[in-house]
Amino acid sequence: MSPRSWLAGARPPAVWLPERPWNGLRVLDACCGAGGLSMGYHLAGFDVVGVDKEPMPSYPFTFVQGDALDFVADHGPEFDLIHGSWPCQHFARVTAWRGNRADHPDLLTPGRKVMQATGRPYVIENLPEAPLRPDYVLCGSQFGLRVRRHRLFETSWGPCGDLLPPCWHPASLLSFEHKEERAYADAMGCTWMSAKEARQAVPPAYTELIGRHAAQHLGAGQVVA
Ligand SMILES: C[S@@+](CC[C@H](N)C(=O)[O-])C[C@H]1O[C@@H](n2cnc3c(N)ncnc32)[C@H](O)[C@@H]1O
Repeated sequence: MSPRSWLAGARPPAVWLPERPWNGLRVLDACCGAGGLSMGYHLAGFDVVGVDKEPMPSYPFTFVQGDALDFVADHGPEFDLIHGSWPCQHFARVTAWRGNRADHPDLLTPGRKVMQATGRPYVIENLPEAPLRPDYVLCGSQFGLRVRRHRLFETSWGPCGDLLPPCWHPASLLSFEHKEERAYADAMGCTWMSAKEARQAVPPAYTELIGRHAAQHLGAGQVVA
């Protein structure tokens, strides 16, 4: 597969993106959804390309519709950093309560393998109950956001060591039950997507932090995949 052969079929980025200085690096967001975590990488200075199997009309960065496992295998080495938000339903407690885990394939395990095979630094995001090494355990309340939303992040370079304030859950914080409300999407910082799309989204603040750490390591040539 020739380098950047995917570019011809990609949807270009939106014109309204917030300004920020480019850090010279490019990240691939595999299973990008409507772009909550992509926005964090953008704010951290990265150029972002997203891949999702659905058309994702609200996604505001360069977008390719397709299978993320195939795309990472074919084109992952063309990026400085690869992020994977592999679907969480297989591991979600709510699937065990209300559905059947067997109906939702585990893409995290093959996703990690395909990311590692590229030799590029990577970040994987998922639910607290998923089998990830918790290099970062993040909640909206640590960033001053009015949402309780816990997510684990595994990185190829391990934890960064910055101290964050602990979670704090006053009653005024919006919890899971408020998902699919406009206020919840906005409180996460996902103002450009619909409230329905935001059900699956993760606050940009999380990858703005991780992206800055990744860029520091990449700049220093210290990231190992
Ligand atoms: C949890 S959502 C991602 C949310 C995103 N990180 C955000 O912050 O907005 C997971 C996404 O994976 C996509 N997906 C599931 N299987 C996929 C596959 N094989 N290839 C590409 N995308 C896939 C779904 O369509 C969904 O949009």
